Amino acid sequence: MIGKLDEHISYIKNFKSKDIDEIESLKIQFLGRKGIINDLFSEFKNVPSDQKKEYGQKINELKNLAQIKYDELKSVNSTSTKSISEDLTKPGFPISKGTLHPITIIKNQIIEIFSKVGFELSEGPEIEDDWHNFTALNLPKHHPARDMQDTFFIQQDPDILLRTHTSSVQVRYLENNTPPLKILSPGRVYRNEAISSRSHCIFHQVEGIYVDENVSFADLKQMILYFTKSMFGKSKLRFRPSFFPFTEPSAEVDIYWGLETETDYRITKGTGWLEIMGCGMVDPQVLENCNIDSEKYTGYAFGLGIERIAMLIYQIPDIRLFFENDVRFLNQFKS
Ligand code: PHE
Repeated sequence: MIGKLDEHISYIKNFKSKDIDEIESLKIQFLGRKGIINDLFSEFKNVPSDQKKEYGQKINELKNLAQIKYDELKSVNSTSTKSISEDLTKPGFPISKGTLHPITIIKNQIIEIFSKVGFELSEGPEIEDDWHNFTALNLPKHHPARDMQDTFFIQQDPDILLRTHTSSVQVRYLENNTPPLKILSPGRVYRNEAISSRSHCIFHQVEGIYVDENVSFADLKQMILYFTKSMFGKSKLRFRPSFFPFTEPSAEVDIYWGLETETDYRITKGTGWLEIMGCGMVDPQVLENCNIDSEKYTGYAFGLGIERIAMLIYQIPDIRLFFENDVRFLNQFKS
């Protein structure tokens, strides 16, 4: 009889489990009303009297051990008694994860594509001064080209404004660094324009600039080709002569989108071609304004609107959807 008690004692001592069900059934098996320990107590009367003392001590030892073991395992795998009575195999409540805004998704993709070829990120203030947004970029006061980007001014001060493009960040970077430099500046920009399905007074741009010795228009074309291939899987491009005060020569880039679907017809106005960005060789005067030797260095720059790219990729018909923060719209971009 004592031998059996020793077996129980060593069973309890060696018992290990993380399973709350197993831990609970250990308790019922030993300490329950109809459990082993109560049985052993009721056998006490049949124990030969010379063994009674040892038997009694061992049952008490077993009882204490079982209780200690149970408490210990329970606290390590602490689940409240309440939840144990519930069905632990039931699925949990679904936790809804947020989604990235489509503008953020596209912005991250653009950044990833350009960082693979050595562009570094540079960011700057949204409230800018006239010098960084306009004058340094070859747009002196009263120059008619300023009308290309209608401006919000801060209070009555004509010198402080909301930046109309992230080219201002490039000026800041050029002023404080020496070539070779290769940066990408994503960010929010502001233009005093009427809001419609295709234009908004707040939008997002990514602009890039590369300045080094012997940078040529061929380098620019190659970089844009690399971008359109990576972003859209399309490589038929058209460089249309254009004008920006800060680049010379300047171009707008169209990609051949195709005319396979009805949407293709609509967004390309039946031509198959789509304008996606502006670009050009940095005007030497801009380099000089930033104290960079324009005899020694040349550079290219490009700029694109993130909303426009997102509208193309996701086939979104109205730019206003990006700013309304309607979760029914945003939830569609779960990746
Ligand atoms: N800054 C121009 C814009 O906002 C885009 C651009 C950038 C064009 C660089 C050419 C070169 O429209």
